[in-house]
Amino acid sequence: MKTPSPFCFDLPTRIYFGPGIAKNLPSLLQEAGIRKPLIVTDPGVRGAGLVDPLLSRLREKGFRFEIYDAVQANPRDEDVDRGAETMRRSDCDGLAAVGGGSPIDCAKAIAVVAAHGGGVRAYAGPGKIPGAAAPILAVPTTAGTGSEITYSAVITDTSRAFKFTVKGSQIAPKAALLDPELTLSMPPALTAATGMDALTHAVEAYTAVGAHPLSDAAALYGAELIAQHLERAVRDGNDIEARSGMLMGSLLAGIGFSRSDVGGVHCLAEALGGTYDLPHGVCNAVMLPAVMAYNRPCCQERYGRIATAMGISWNDVEEGATEAVAAAARLATEVGLPSFSSFGIPAEDFPDIARKAAMNGSNASNPRPMAPADYEAILRTLAGAS
Ligand SMILES: [Fe+2]
Repeated sequence: MKTPSPFCFDLPTRIYFGPGIAKNLPSLLQEAGIRKPLIVTDPGVRGAGLVDPLLSRLREKGFRFEIYDAVQANPRDEDVDRGAETMRRSDCDGLAAVGGGSPIDCAKAIAVVAAHGGGVRAYAGPGKIPGAAAPILAVPTTAGTGSEITYSAVITDTSRAFKFTVKGSQIAPKAALLDPELTLSMPPALTAATGMDALTHAVEAYTAVGAHPLSDAAALYGAELIAQHLERAVRDGNDIEARSGMLMGSLLAGIGFSRSDVGGVHCLAEALGGTYDLPHGVCNAVMLPAVMAYNRPCCQERYGRIATAMGISWNDVEEGATEAVAAAARLATEVGLPSFSSFGIPAEDFPDIARKAAMNGSNASNPRPMAPADYEAILRTLAGAS
């Protein structure tokens, strides 16, 4: 190991993991000092029946609460601002987010706006949260985003069709309740997309400019667990062992990237998601092999280790790096994710997507510098290949 640059690693979120653990939500709210939570979720999660049992437990334990279940996919500024208004009006003193990355990110941003006023767009970028925010508990129902332990919330600016990040330790959840049973009802396509998001977190965390030994450890084992369990979870949603492996892999990848960063794959995925409202995990899956191929000259050894973590043996490091890129592409195909052409994006939009990708706060973390022209070249290659 090379002597790392100075770094600090903290993990303010208390992690609870295991089948059935979500039933402890009332006691953990109590422990966090929350008397009346705003339950933040979305119509799909609520419709899947994942929220009502938790609400019943809250009622049994005498909790008062308010529900905000209108969060949209790729959560929008207006979702946050409406949620903050609901929180203020109902006098809630904390939040419990139940769902995938959208409700959890939205809850984090609501906590900021409810505490400090204005619209969420005023808090774009690191260091913009002026003070404390209400405590948040996160109950993920997908295995992918890692949002349950990150410091950031990705929100769509609807005026510019652009995703921005609200970032600060104030919005790290106080506790994350990772219950694999809550992920059992995810349909195969959502399992695949969120799982590829998690793999992207692992790969980008491990190769980001700010990677350090602790983020490396989390990212590599995350990649291993995801490679072992994603296909199984897609094939049989009731395979609790596969669901547990994915939830743990996603958590570890989340710990990895939130303490190093992501890179060019997320820059492109967020540009696409913000512009066309496409699912985050699908965008990542499409972009991951292409950006890995671009980064390869700077990441040979690290890609070799990723290939090993994914269960692939190799003879020399160049072969290992090639295998890692191929393994990411193979996994995306095997779990049924589409090609870039299925998005139907006209080529005249590529310069704008490339410009947005290069403006992303994580662009500087990519291991190989990426200018708008590099992003555009990737888009053109993908369009030509599909
Ligand atoms: Fe992501």
